[in-house]
Amino acid sequence: MCLGHTEAIFVDTQTRAWEGVPGVNGAHWKVFQVDPRTGGVQALVRFPAGAVEPPHHHTHGHWIYVEDGAKLVENLSRGTRYLLSGGMYLYTPAPDVHRVTYLSRCTFLFVSDGPFDLFWDGPEQGVIIPPDAAGQGA
Ligand SMILES: [Fe+2]
Repeated sequence: MCLGHTEAIFVDTQTRAWEGVPGVNGAHWKVFQVDPRTGGVQALVRFPAGAVEPPHHHTHGHWIYVEDGAKLVENLSRGTRYLLSGGMYLYTPAPDVHRVTYLSRCTFLFVSDGPFDLFWDGPEQGVIIPPDAAGQGA
């Protein structure tokens, strides 16, 4: 939910171009809006098949709703695993450390409850992209 805007916001995702997510190589998004009160981001996000987000955390909580594709989210802070596909929702609170593996190209809604950031918690300092997915863009 966004409480900060006083005007309606309309986005046609079919006509908006994918853009690279700052600091998250291999990921693309279409940002719908940034909440002026919280700085939270509302966006459609896509990762290629085979991509892996190594262990990382955020200073904000975030929820996702998978539109299509499949991904495995491992919450390393809590020892839980979630296999997500179309129609599934997951909220991850800050600052839980999590690792995400994309089992197929995956498109999902992403909403953060604060300004987007990302901190890597292991030796890998970026998304691991399989060679066959590199350069494919969104
Ligand atoms: Fe994350």
